[in-house]
Order: sequence, then C-alpha cells, then structure tokens
Amino acid sequence: MTNSPTHIQLIQPDDWHLHIRDGEVVKDVLADTARQFARAIIMPNLKPPVTTVALAKAYQSRIDANLKALGITNFLPLMILYLTDNTSAEEVRKAKAEGIAGFKLYPAGATTNSDAGVSDIKHCYQALEAMQVLGIPLLVHGEVTSADIDIFDREAVFIDTVLEPLRKDFPELKIVFEHITTKQAAHYVRDAAISKKNSIAATITPQHLLMNRNAIFAGGIRPHNYCLPVLKREEHRIALLEAATSGNARFFLGTDSAPHAKGAKEAACGCAGCYSAFNALGLYAEAFESVGKLDKLEGFASFFGPDFYGLPRNSKKITLAKQAQAIPVELPLGDATIVPLRAGETVAWSLV
Ligand code: DOR
Ligand code: ZN
Repeated sequence: MTNSPTHIQLIQPDDWHLHIRDGEVVKDVLADTARQFARAIIMPNLKPPVTTVALAKAYQSRIDANLKALGITNFLPLMILYLTDNTSAEEVRKAKAEGIAGFKLYPAGATTNSDAGVSDIKHCYQALEAMQVLGIPLLVHGEVTSADIDIFDREAVFIDTVLEPLRKDFPELKIVFEHITTKQAAHYVRDAAISKKNSIAATITPQHLLMNRNAIFAGGIRPHNYCLPVLKREEHRIALLEAATSGNARFFLGTDSAPHAKGAKEAACGCAGCYSAFNALGLYAEAFESVGKLDKLEGFASFFGPDFYGLPRNSKKITLAKQAQAIPVELPLGDATIVPLRAGETVAWSLV
C-alpha cells in the first residue's frame, strides 16, 4: 500500500460499541450504522435498562422488526445486558446459553441512564465469577463518579481504584475497557500483563482520535462535541491515536455513537453523546491517515474486535475512497432532528 492512497479496501468492519436507543428513532440510527458495519454491540442503557435476557430478547425483536422494515438483511445486532448490583450468576448462565455477547458495567451516575448502574462492584462478584468461568466479556464504562474527583481525572482514578483491583480478583475475566480517553488507559491496556490470551482490550471512538478538549469550547460552547468520558488534553489524543494505529490487537473500533435529539443537546443541561454513525468509517480513516497509518485501519476496524469476542471475521469487502463527504447540518431522528459529528463540514473519506 502506498503512503497516500486514494482508495482502501478492507474486510467489512463492525462497531463494537453503539447506542441505537428504542422506539421511533431506531430506524434512523440503524440505517446509518448498517450502511457501514456488519455487526454492532448494542448498548443496554435504555429507560428502563436491559437487565435480563428476556428484556434483551424483546429489544432484539424490536431491532429486527426495524431492520425488516428498512429492508436490511445483512446486519447483526449483538445484545448486551446491563449489569446491576442484583445481577445473579443464574442470569449470567442464561445469558451465555442465549448468545448474549456481554455485560455492561455502568458505575451508578456515570453517564446517560446509569442510575440503575452498579453502586459497588463488590455487589457483582458472583455474577463476575460466572462471567469469568463462562468466558462472557465485561464491558466497562471506566469512570469513577464521586463529586470530589475532577471530571478530567475520572478515568485514571477508575483504573487505580476499580479496574486494577478487579483484574487482580478476576485475572481471567474478559474485559473491554470501553471508549478510552486517556494516555493512562491506553498504556494500561497496552502494558497489562495477562494471564490468559485475550483478557483485556479497549475500544476507541472517532471523536477521541480526532479532537481534544478544546473542541468543546471552540469560540463558544459546543454541545455536539460533548460526550462521556469527556474529551481530554492533546497529549491524551496523541496516545490514543498511537494505540489505535499501532497494530496492537488489544485496541479496536467502537464508535460510541450516542444519538440525542438536537433539543436535548442544545439545552441548559445538554446530554452527553456524539452522533458519529453517519460517516464513522470516514472519520476513522481520517484519523489513521493523519499519522500515515491507513494500513493499520483494517486490523483495528475489522479483525481485532471479532477476534476478542471469539466471533468469525466478516468476509465481505468494502472500499473507502478519499473523496470528501459533506455532512448535513441536521439529520432526521424520529419526529425530531439530530446534529451529527462534523455537521456542516466535510469528512475526507467516504464509503464507496
Ligand atoms: O457520551 C455518552 N453518551 N457516553 C456514554 O457513556 C453514554 C452515551 C449515551 O448513552 O448517550
Ligand atoms: Zn456508550
């Protein structure tokens, strides 16, 4: 591959961290994702959260009905359960038997719809023990929530006070450290000594590869660049970009595309979440190209995720072209609209 190609072909990617919500908006956000990705890990932070296999199955049928209505036959949702203080080992066994892809740990109060999340990880030890034995991954929102910890330090403190002790107690538990945002997280995952192959990995979003925290305050407050964990300093963006483009299989694609209607973002207390699904692959290609590492995109986007989850890699190929795509200022979202990441600007790469 040349250093600055105009086309790149890759095995079709998957999105290992995605919010599609429920109800009216699902069809709009699913259509954007399914245009690019073959599969996606579907986040369970609905209201009420998807805490049981029965709720996940019902949610999956609603998703399938939307896919059918859209005429999409080549997209597979991978369902995740929301871990609570009360998740039983029995529910974990049921989840494994029913093909649930993992459990999501939201520390209570960390982010959107996390009120029912875990108040103390010690409450989950029986469920975690079962997950470790059965090889079912724990997906982690890695931030502490106590008010005395600065919001920019919440991920680094989580590593020291929650993640490291957890990994000591469950050395073979498969853990995905979701949407990492700091140098500390990138280095922690890179350097983790693992007792079993594949026991820790991390997903990285396009916004954390392309923007630092200045983007939230560029010329005024920019609610559409606000997500959680919040964007960090430039040194952290550089460390994330280095990790994503290193070819290390512990890092893979997870957009964390998180739709909120325009009015819920542009508000006195605006919601956290960036909507990147519209041209997520173009955004990732830009990030990889910025450091001359387009040749590392396929591993990150298409191989390392399924390898970690123990699923087959996709076989179909897609092509990205270096062709600027204009991103609309707004897109339809059910009865409302949504402002996508890069709204009104262009993304340098497009899906052919
Ligand atoms: O920015 C975010 N939005 N971060 C999360 O962890 C949740 C997500 C959402 O659901 O809106
Ligand atoms: Zn998320």
